[in-house]
Amino acid sequence: MNLRVEGVSFRYPSGVLALDGIDLAIPSGQLLAILGENGAGKTTLVKLFNGLLRPSQGKVYIGDWDSAEHTTAALARRVGFLFQNPDDQLFERTLAREVGYGPRNLGASEAEVKRRVARALKLVGLHDMADAHPYDLPQPQRKLLALAATIAMDTPILVLDEPTIGQDEVGRGAISRILTDLHRMGRTLIMISHDMDFCAEHAQRMLVMLNGKIHVEGTTEDVMGQTKKLDEAEVAPPQLVRLAQALKMPGTPLTVDDFVDEYKQWRKKKKSK
Ligand SMILES: Nc1ncnc2c1ncn2[C@@H]1O[C@H](COP(=O)(O)OP(=O)(O)OP(=O)(O)O)[C@@H](O)[C@H]1O
Ligand SMILES: [Mg+2]
Repeated sequence: MNLRVEGVSFRYPSGVLALDGIDLAIPSGQLLAILGENGAGKTTLVKLFNGLLRPSQGKVYIGDWDSAEHTTAALARRVGFLFQNPDDQLFERTLAREVGYGPRNLGASEAEVKRRVARALKLVGLHDMADAHPYDLPQPQRKLLALAATIAMDTPILVLDEPTIGQDEVGRGAISRILTDLHRMGRTLIMISHDMDFCAEHAQRMLVMLNGKIHVEGTTEDVMGQTKKLDEAEVAPPQLVRLAQALKMPGTPLTVDDFVDEYKQWRKKKKSK
């Protein structure tokens, strides 16, 4: 399902202009990362996608829907949302009830709810704890639980606000695997993250925001190579890219394997000179 933002501005009642003339198209199945310093407007932008906020100006289309013509409840069938802080979205007594809440609310049958709960808990690796209380889990695992609840809604589009924050390497690995699975299933994934290495490894496309505007966007490789633009937006390229730049290697390696390949080629060329 495609998502389109046309000429959107948003002003908070306090007077802050948080979004200023945003045009954006996110094609179905894309894995997009949104980056930018604190206060750039990232969360405000994605809250327009499921109607948590409504544009002051402009249009947001979710598939063939003009979002202005649909309630937040209706939009929740198309856009799932993982909040930055999982505790903002957890309120049930058990993991199973938590994950089942959304589908049940959408009117799914009990058999269907059960199936979706089992699948979502399995995907995040919490299936052995279905009857535990959410607050018996440490915070990083509560984030995985919140992610399971988001996944169980079976929406074609998923928005994840800082999915890796507070996660250790094991948690990051789990989230990496889950994103890869969801991407393979054809879901559109929009992730906000300060975790550059994670974005570089997973995103197909990147969008860097600054002062409520899109500062630079393009393929991950293209954006990561634009050092000056990234500097202006106070976004540091991932470690591998910085290392390649420090060595004056050509190219923008995004994974360790890319780096090793490019490094070998570069050394060979240097030697033959
Ligand atoms: N509820 C609110 N009321 C008034 N102003 C707000 C509100 N929420 C955010 N803002 C302001 O809107 C601007 C954009 O904020 P937003 O939360 O979208 O940024 P962000 O890029 O998500 O930042 P962060 O990386 O810190 O999460 C900032 O100037 C912020 O102070
Ligand atoms: Mg934010």
